[in-house]
Amino acid sequence: MAYELRSARFLAADILSRALQPGDTAIDATMGNGHDTLFLCRLVGETGRVYAFDVQAAAVENTRKRLLDAGVLSRAALYCLGHERMAENVRGPVSAAVFNLGWLPGGDHAVTTRWETTKKAVESALRLLGPLGVLVICAYPGHPEGDRERAALTEFLSALPPQQYNVLHHRFLNAGPGAPECFVAQKQKG
Ligand SMILES: C[S@@+](CC[C@H](N)C(=O)[O-])C[C@H]1O[C@@H](n2cnc3c(N)ncnc32)[C@H](O)[C@@H]1O
Repeated sequence: MAYELRSARFLAADILSRALQPGDTAIDATMGNGHDTLFLCRLVGETGRVYAFDVQAAAVENTRKRLLDAGVLSRAALYCLGHERMAENVRGPVSAAVFNLGWLPGGDHAVTTRWETTKKAVESALRLLGPLGVLVICAYPGHPEGDRERAALTEFLSALPPQQYNVLHHRFLNAGPGAPECFVAQKQKG
């Protein structure tokens, strides 16, 4: 496939596919319709594990069906639970954790991620990362909660100690103010 820098989602997928190896453990913090969960299940292979979270039962069901159809359901543990409670269920270390913030496309816009709970989940994910593990977050400014999350994430991730994490913020400069953005934090080797 041609290497085409075209979106925050493309960047996130590119980073995840480099960071994950067969046998690894990964987290999908916002399961939605399961596209990211399926992508992670394929990357970790038969011996890997993917923990996925969403607060909506419909999201969990859609994801379960998608993984079943693809023959990879046994690689995943699906939780109808807020990602702020991931630490209770995930056995680390994890090689990658992905957040695709906002609401379910085609779903109820009121059920959106919110900074208060996103922050708790991001803190847990950072603690669960193993050496060189990556946290990848797609954020969607352009609506009030998305703007708030993007601003708070920028401040929070900028303050992470550089001795422990390398942090990147990808933004398409000519794509307009509401364009999705990608944040990445990689834990240092040791
Ligand atoms: C943009 S969608 C995710 C899309 C998904 N990654 C995919 O591949 O289809 C965001 C999801 O976050 C979920 N969400 C909102 N608050 C949450 C929370 N506290 N914990 C986990 N998921 C949450 C929403 O229900 C929604 O399904």
